[in-house]
Amino acid sequence: MNFVEHMSAMYRSWRDREPINSAPVLPGMKVLGHLPTFRSNAFAVLSEASTLGDVVRFDLLHTPVFFVKHPDAVGPMLDSQELWLRGEGLQPLLGRNVLSMNGAEWQASRTFAQPTFHPKMTDLVAQDFVQRAITYLDKWHSWARSQTEVDLAREAICLFTQCATPAFGFRFLPEETEAFPAAILRLQQWAFAALAGGKRRSRKVSQDMAMLDGIIERSLNRPPATDQPPTYLDRLRQDHSIPRDSLRDHLMLMLIASSDNPPNTFAFVIKALLDNPEWEEAARAEIADVLGDEPPTVASLESLPLLSRIVDETLRYYPPVWMLARHSTRDVELLEHHIPAGTMALIGTYFIHRHPEFWEDPEQFNPDRFLPHREAERHRYAYLPFGSGPRRCIGSRIALQEVRLLLALFLQRFRVIPTHTGPLPLNGIFALRSTIGVPCLLQELTS
Ligand code: HEM
Repeated sequence: MNFVEHMSAMYRSWRDREPINSAPVLPGMKVLGHLPTFRSNAFAVLSEASTLGDVVRFDLLHTPVFFVKHPDAVGPMLDSQELWLRGEGLQPLLGRNVLSMNGAEWQASRTFAQPTFHPKMTDLVAQDFVQRAITYLDKWHSWARSQTEVDLAREAICLFTQCATPAFGFRFLPEETEAFPAAILRLQQWAFAALAGGKRRSRKVSQDMAMLDGIIERSLNRPPATDQPPTYLDRLRQDHSIPRDSLRDHLMLMLIASSDNPPNTFAFVIKALLDNPEWEEAARAEIADVLGDEPPTVASLESLPLLSRIVDETLRYYPPVWMLARHSTRDVELLEHHIPAGTMALIGTYFIHRHPEFWEDPEQFNPDRFLPHREAERHRYAYLPFGSGPRRCIGSRIALQEVRLLLALFLQRFRVIPTHTGPLPLNGIFALRSTIGVPCLLQELTS
């Protein structure tokens, strides 16, 4: 028996064994399983799997993968780093940093990053973000006046590269900002395909990567500002225990994290409000009542609870991080299904957020689900836009502050006229996105 026959025989015996309570299987192609579709549209594969149950097996080539969408199963997966380790899928793009590391290395990186995300720091950063955004929005005003159609998903990413990334120590040139939305999409597509079986870097992807590396290198070579608290980049540069050749990986994560998921969330909020104009008007009324024409501040967010609930509900309805990957370190049970050691499991956040056992009328957009008394009744692991447990998102506070502040600024200034109606066609690579963006016209509001 040669090696291939031996591996096939092992796989067949694994596949045909009769475990107690084996999970339902999503049928796929004989050899490739679901690999081709998974590479280009993992969201479609998991959507299909989710119709079969709460724990479903599907194969990528000969490798079994489990899809999980029950909060009871997900809790231990997110809480126990002994049983489940974070997947390393983003490593080709982001390198080795707090997101992709595990164990003691992860702990050290997380502890190092923590002061940058202390509430005192994020309050300062968020206030700075408002000032930058007010200036940046002049551009959006000019589009409103010229009735130019814009894709708000793309434009929000551009805004965040200019207004949010400086807090971490980055400066984008205008041409880099313009190129970034397409580049980040290509890079994520490439990294995802690499994860699911490998794909060579195209010339375009190499150029995109070179552009991001260039932004990091240039930012590292700039002297630190002396009149502001040290940025994440300044702190990394000052810490001589961190080897210089690993700085790029730590910085690449913060560069992408601060300029992709938050604007993606903002764009989804706009789409949700376009589809539910009664909430848009209610939010605008709350803002007018609390702020009048004054720009929002971090302190004023406390007095805008509906605005917060709208963002929370959007993160349920369209969670940008729509799935989480884990590897089992030993044999485990998930809802009584046996999962062998070394297996990849994908937690389907998007599908948990629409699970009818845990959400009443899940397809309806209803920010009032997040009224305090209703939140208290919810299953602890039914709402996971930022994950949960020790690997929970470190940037959730600043991300929420920036999205809410931008939304308040936006609703004070503009009304949106959609140029595409109906449900958004969604595709999930690492991030959930609308394949057509959020196309619209902006209309200036006169006070
Ligand atoms: C709305 C915006 C955001 C969303 C929806 C989001 C979502 C998430 C989720 C779901 C995780 C957990 C992944 C897992 O358990 O496998 C995560 C982790 C992480 N996020 Fe975010 N994130 C956002 C914004 C940010 C921002 C602004 C930053 C920093 C600039 C950031 C930095 C990180 C880091 C460093 C981790 C890894 C934490 C660890 O493993 O210890 N995120 N994020």
